[in-house]
Amino acid sequence: MLILGLETSCDETGVAVYDTGRGLLAHALYSQVAVHAEYGGVVPELASRDHVRKALPLISQVLAEADCDAADIEGIAYTAGPGLVGALMVGATLARALAWGWGIPALGVHHMEGHLLAPMLEDEHPQFPFVALLVSGGHTQLVRVDGIGHYRLLGESLDDAAGEAFDKAAKMLGLPYPGGPHIARVAGEGNPDRFDFPRPMVNRPGLDFSFSGLKTYTLNTVARCREAGALTEQDKCDIARAFEDAVVATLVIKCRRALRQENLKTLVIAGGVSANQRLREQLSEALAKEKSRVFYPAPMFCTDNGAMIAYAGAQRLQAGQVDDVEATVRPRWPMEELPPLPQREVGT
Ligand code: KG4
Ligand code: ZN
Repeated sequence: MLILGLETSCDETGVAVYDTGRGLLAHALYSQVAVHAEYGGVVPELASRDHVRKALPLISQVLAEADCDAADIEGIAYTAGPGLVGALMVGATLARALAWGWGIPALGVHHMEGHLLAPMLEDEHPQFPFVALLVSGGHTQLVRVDGIGHYRLLGESLDDAAGEAFDKAAKMLGLPYPGGPHIARVAGEGNPDRFDFPRPMVNRPGLDFSFSGLKTYTLNTVARCREAGALTEQDKCDIARAFEDAVVATLVIKCRRALRQENLKTLVIAGGVSANQRLREQLSEALAKEKSRVFYPAPMFCTDNGAMIAYAGAQRLQAGQVDDVEATVRPRWPMEELPPLPQREVGT
């Protein structure tokens, strides 16, 4: 089944064509980062306008790259939530209108299910069941996954999401938005032994996270450096390193705990923060010692993209799931409300 995927939940317009037999045929991404950079965060109205401007040209580019005509497409998958309501509406309206015109089904996909299934796009992909750590700008969740739609939330952030914490720490250090990649870059020049940041909530039982204390600790450390004279480039690098180490250590501890609790040996990490190199290395190292394994998407499919939406939508459309013609979006949408698909082994 040949599926067109459309992602417009935040500040990236992502388009992809995925075939359930042949895999990913083409994909393209337009990032609005430059549009929002001067505001230090995403401006929802500007995001919607840019999706309107870019979505159709990207669709025609991706169809050409996939070497297919509109008439070949058998279904459309678009992000229906969670996300910015206006941005979601652009994708939903466009997808519904195209599906109506082309006489094919369309389906609203859950953005975090897209992230969660992104590792399935890789040749070497995990088998169910597994534990997934979803770490993006808006979510930090540990989920037990027994199949598509078979999700049980094990723990989540009680305040800021991990990506949001990276973005806020970056802002404190005067680094551009989105902050995660910039923190990672300057942390590479940082001295890991200068500051010792707290590892939030690791001494408490359970699988929930909290990053607000770490944020305050970072702010206080920045203030202390300023009081001592000025916030130097080396100070920034050292603080970024201590911050990144603390977030990564916390995530690693909770992932190991979740695997032990669920008696599973496979971990999947997905979402923007899963692009973080130190997180990948530390998780691989820690899990190898326990004969467990971690899977993650290719870096370009960690952050928002159309391929993950095309893949997730393809699985559900192929199973016969469709929505009616009304273009509804769900800015807030718990993933556990998704309908379960019959369980089967992926890739067989
Ligand atoms: O999944 P995503 O693209 O969008 C949402 O669904 O939120 O995630 C974006 C988040 C941002 O907070 C960004 O700072 C973070 O992912 N991020 C990173 C890295 N690359 C992106 N955080 C840490 N290290 C990175 N290399
Ligand atoms: Zn995302």
